[in-house]
Amino acid sequence: MTAPIRPPVGAAHARIWGVGGYRPVRVVPNSELVDRIDSSDEWIQSRSGIKTRRWANDEETVAEMSIAAAGKALAHAGIAADQIGCVIVSTVTHLKQTPSIATEIAYKLGAGGGRAPAFDVSAACAGFCYGLTLASDMVRGGSAEYVLVIGVERLSDLTNRDDRGTAFIFGDGAGAVVVGPSDTPGIGPVVWGSDGSKADTITQTESWEALRGGNAEVPFPTLRMEGQTVFRWAVWEMAKVCQQALDAAGVTTEDLDAFIPHQANMRITDAMIKALKLPAEVPVARDIAETGNTSAASIPLAMERMLETGEATSGGTALVMGFGAGLVYAGQVITLP
Ligand SMILES: CC(C)(COP(=O)(O)OP(=O)(O)OC[C@H]1O[C@@H](n2cnc3c(N)ncnc32)[C@H](O)[C@@H]1OP(=O)(O)O)[C@@H](O)C(=O)NCCC(=O)NCCS
Repeated sequence: MTAPIRPPVGAAHARIWGVGGYRPVRVVPNSELVDRIDSSDEWIQSRSGIKTRRWANDEETVAEMSIAAAGKALAHAGIAADQIGCVIVSTVTHLKQTPSIATEIAYKLGAGGGRAPAFDVSAACAGFCYGLTLASDMVRGGSAEYVLVIGVERLSDLTNRDDRGTAFIFGDGAGAVVVGPSDTPGIGPVVWGSDGSKADTITQTESWEALRGGNAEVPFPTLRMEGQTVFRWAVWEMAKVCQQALDAAGVTTEDLDAFIPHQANMRITDAMIKALKLPAEVPVARDIAETGNTSAASIPLAMERMLETGEATSGGTALVMGFGAGLVYAGQVITLP
């Protein structure tokens, strides 16, 4: 006879209880980049909306930026590190195949007494929303009471300063949220997916394998992007995903108190606003102007800024949506912490 197995017991609902960010100290203006790519401050601002980005120094490692952001998120949530039941780190710039960076971060933070389960997620600019989805399901599924989700990147390590299509886009930073149990729904159904047929449109130039044996012919890998293809995909497809996430949550654009899309490019954000017919009074995250595109870190960084500046308020309803290399995407409606 099959032994009866006691099922896991989770919370009725999940929500984000706290958010925190870390921005590297060094501000890099467009003027510092333009000579090497024969560009101008005006061109970069008009094509991407970016004025400055932050680039990390040697001490601002993936782990240290994450720990700083997580500390702020824990304080905002009023949760102690030892209450954390899992640490999820979304990143594509932890440049060591194994172990994950999440275990080092969990240990240094003292998450779950330094023993919390911890793992990395590789979902590029959708990484934060992928992590948020897992965290919500863990809390409701009973595998963790509180989950720390971190999005962190040091994209300057993988940026080719001579590539006109990417040198000005990427930035560094970390953002974190604490997800935990709630009496009311605070994270709506996710709408997510991938399109591997477009895997080559944003990619690392060389695999680590190509560097085997110290092959001097192979330059250190950087990121390469087919800008126009990605732009068109984002503008046409991602507004549909936003609408589907709103529909899945039973919310309309009129109900939104904030729209926080991945900070890919200001023009992509503007096109999504238009396609969604977002009411003019809904505040929209525009953190990219000062921060650049920080991939997995961009949504929590933008969320923190909107709450700090008062553009959005705690308890408000927001739509978050991430999209990027893979290609991958994920979006959901949330209650702001
Ligand atoms: C990268 C991006 C800004 C480039 O803009 P674009 O208009 O597609 O640029 P193109 O490559 O078609 O080039 C258009 C013109 O600008 C020029 N140009 C390209 N890069 C330039 C640069 N950095 N500075 C100045 N001029 C540049 C080209 O030479 C070309 O000139 P021409 O018309 O005289 O031939 C744009 O494709 C983009 O934003 N893509 C989406 C990228 C993104 O958001 N990725 C993140 C997803 S997670």
